[in-house]
Amino acid sequence: MTSPTYSLVNDQTGEKVALPLVQGTLGPAGADVGKVYDKLDLFTYDPGFTSTCSCKSAITFIDGDKGVLLYRGYPVDQLAAHSSFIEVAYLILHGELPGKAALEEFETSIRKHTMINESLKRFFDGFNYDAHPMAMLTGVVGSLSAFYHDTTNNRDPKHREIFAHRMIAKIPTIAAAAFKRFFGQPFMYPQNHLDYCSNLLHMMFAVPAEPYHVDPVAAKALDILFILHADHEQNASTSTVRLAGSTGCNPYAAIAAGIAALWGPAHGGANEAVLKMLGEIGTVKNVPSFMAKVKDKNSGVRLMGFGHRVYKNFDPRATIIREQCHKVLKHLGKEGDPQLELALELENIALSDDYFKERKLYPNVDFYSGIIYKALGIPVNMFTPMFAIARTVGWVAHWTEMVAEQGGPRIGRPRQVYVGAPVREYKALGAR
Ligand code: CMC
Repeated sequence: MTSPTYSLVNDQTGEKVALPLVQGTLGPAGADVGKVYDKLDLFTYDPGFTSTCSCKSAITFIDGDKGVLLYRGYPVDQLAAHSSFIEVAYLILHGELPGKAALEEFETSIRKHTMINESLKRFFDGFNYDAHPMAMLTGVVGSLSAFYHDTTNNRDPKHREIFAHRMIAKIPTIAAAAFKRFFGQPFMYPQNHLDYCSNLLHMMFAVPAEPYHVDPVAAKALDILFILHADHEQNASTSTVRLAGSTGCNPYAAIAAGIAALWGPAHGGANEAVLKMLGEIGTVKNVPSFMAKVKDKNSGVRLMGFGHRVYKNFDPRATIIREQCHKVLKHLGKEGDPQLELALELENIALSDDYFKERKLYPNVDFYSGIIYKALGIPVNMFTPMFAIARTVGWVAHWTEMVAEQGGPRIGRPRQVYVGAPVREYKALGAR
């Protein structure tokens, strides 16, 4: 069977430009429109990038219609069931599941990089007492570029590896320090005998005055959540990291840009927004009036944790998280939690409501993750930093994939359709 070809035709002049196809392993091919401007003096217009590929990538594949999510070819449900976050991080970075020795070496390297420079720790003192942890995370991760500027050559694979390990190792330490700053508690140093998620729980919840024992069920639940959040191909924050990184900037600064993009409620900030929404609705009896607002276009109210740009059937991560959510609540004896009951009522109504069915709006990963975080005692403003910790793996992998391309990355530079004033003559102040 011959593959189809595509061309763009100027209907008035008949002038035609063939669009070469960029074929992938799975999913639709991309029509290369790079020469359209040169040949037809025409831009392609796709705000929101609904049909536009910005790069080729071998890391993650999503089939939104079928609810498929693969990391390096492996279905995410299999990884969540059998793997660990650190093993998945290795897979995402290196492309293959590690053997025993490679996994041990990787884990040891991550453990060795968990501490942050003592002067970086002092940066937290500069933030106001009520600073949002995402603001601190953005600022402090950006500041890492000041510590590693002269040892970071983006073209050197060894330097890229050190950056990747440092970033993955230090992000929980920085997020936990932001948490401690917010609550006015002393900073807890990492304990490198603990696994990745247990260490994070320790840094967040331990205090110097008494012993702290990590709940293995909580650590396992976090580990699964982190696997599910580790990467999601060219989402807004990853695309931000790639765009910033395409300029050749310091990679820590590129990650800080990604963290800033993640914070928005349409993206990673949705987990925090879901809990705020549940708080505003209050009780199950207020659900119908809230739903009426959601359906009213003029209200500007959305059902947070519902809908996804790519998943138009179901979010495979949400299915796994929903199950985890019940497990964790049962373990913690919080099954009758009124907010969970409210969330489940919203879910039931939305799944059977024509407004949501017609628009293919299903619960996404953030609908349930917030409920688990809350049950684990993690405060609402730390939900998005938790997402950031997991997604750091994806950001680092995408940055590395882009920078390691032969010849280095081409700077990302979108065009626009200009809708401003046409050319006009300057008027002197007295004549305006
Ligand atoms: N509640 C009510 N209506 C919605 C919602 C929602 N959550 N999401 C989309 N719609 C409606 C929207 O009003 C539009 O209706 P119409 O066709 O009548 O104008 C239609 O569905 C299509 O929406 P869209 O805004 O064109 O969809 P999008 O692909 O641009 O946006 C989204 C995707 C995730 C930003 C959006 O669904 C949303 O705002 N959801 C709530 C926020 C959220 O949960 N975000 C987390 C996403 S998953 C985690 C992550 O990737 O970070």
